[in-house]
This record gives sequence, structure tokens and C-alpha cells, in this order.
Amino acid sequence: MHSALLRYTARCASPAFTGQRLGFMSSRFHWTTLDLNSHLPPGWQQDIQMAAEDADFREFPRTPVLSREAADVLHIRRGRVHAAQVRQRLPWLYRSYRDEFLEFARAACAERVVAARDDRYGVVLNVQRGTTMRFECHIDSNPLTGLLFCTDHSAGGELAFANDASAADVAAVERDCSVIRPYAGHLIFFDARQHPHYARPLKQAADTRIVAVMNFYTESCPESTRPPVLNRHLYGDK
Ligand SMILES: [Fe+2]
Repeated sequence: MHSALLRYTARCASPAFTGQRLGFMSSRFHWTTLDLNSHLPPGWQQDIQMAAEDADFREFPRTPVLSREAADVLHIRRGRVHAAQVRQRLPWLYRSYRDEFLEFARAACAERVVAARDDRYGVVLNVQRGTTMRFECHIDSNPLTGLLFCTDHSAGGELAFANDASAADVAAVERDCSVIRPYAGHLIFFDARQHPHYARPLKQAADTRIVAVMNFYTESCPESTRPPVLNRHLYGDK
């Protein structure tokens, strides 16, 4: 574990590392990228693609509190491999979230970072198929998010992050945004509590985009700050 972390820490000085430490004081969106291609287990992409074939594809209702969609957008079509399925079908990903990826998150963040205790939203897969799906424009409630890109796309499927915290819909995000193109095997970390963001639709009908999404917390923004309305909305909590 430690030798792996050292390899990645060393890479931070190479061109594979972009962005700044997350403590950097700037209102512009910033992020950290790690290239894990020589580190992930053999066959990891095929494993993830097989799990994504059984994703829950449907119209998802807009998220309370966190949504930054226009008022007339009530649903967004996309796919989700829920946390329980990730744990069952991709045990290496579940373990990495709580082990090596957590160590990388700690190296990227000025504050001590912890994984979510609640398994329902620790690590999930977001899946887009074809040109009609995208991911909802929203802000995050957690202070640090990790995304492991699992597919490559020459065009479409980019993440767009608003530099303006007040951006209230996709059009406003697009007016001034930082854009991240997915590269399979790249793990990124960011704080998007003040940066509305969404995943653009794909350009090819036969294309599939898969990303593993990981929630992390810090002492100044612990898991207990997660809005209860989210769990009521997503899991039917009382
Ligand atoms: Fe997000």
C-alpha cells in the first residue's frame, strides 16, 4: 500500500498530475488528477462494463436541495449501479474506496479525509448510454468527491463545472465552466459544494460512459451534515 502511494505521490510532480491541492484559495473550480492505469487490477474495465450492463436505467427525478436544473426539468434519464450492487459485483472497487483510494484522497486534501460510513452512498456507478442521457446539474453536499473514469470518449460525456457558484441551470454552467474529459483509469478529486456541475450527453448512439463516484467527508464537513432530505428522496428514509 505505502509503496503504491509513494508511486502516486511521485507522479504528482509529473505531467499526469494537474490541478492544485484542494486547500488552494480560489473561486475557480480546481481538481486533482491521478493516473491509475498501471495500478488498477487486470480486467478492471471489463468487470465494470459487465456490472454497468445491469444498471438501473430510467428517468431519475431531480434531487431536492442540490439540483441546479432549470425549473421545467423534472427528470433526467441516466443509469445507476447502486452501492449494494457495487459491493456485491465489484468487491475490489468497494475495498479500494475504503483503502487505497481513501489514501489518495488524503494525499490530495489539506484536511483529514474519511470514507462514508453509510454503505448506500459510499461508491456507486453512474452510466450514460447513447445520446439522450446525461447526469443532473447539481452541487455536491459532501466536501470531497472522487471519480474514477472507466471509459474514454473523444467527444461528449465531459464533466462541466461552473466557476460561478450561482449558476442555476445547464446553460449558466456552460457560460463559464471548467471542462474535464473522461480518460479511463484517471481518478479525480474535487470539492464541488460551490460549483454546479453536470455530465454532458454523449455524441455517439452506440457509446456508453461509466464513472465510479465516491463520497468522502472531512472533520469540518462530516457525514452528519448530509441533508436528511437526500436519504428520504433516494432511499425512503423516514
Ligand atoms: Fe456531483
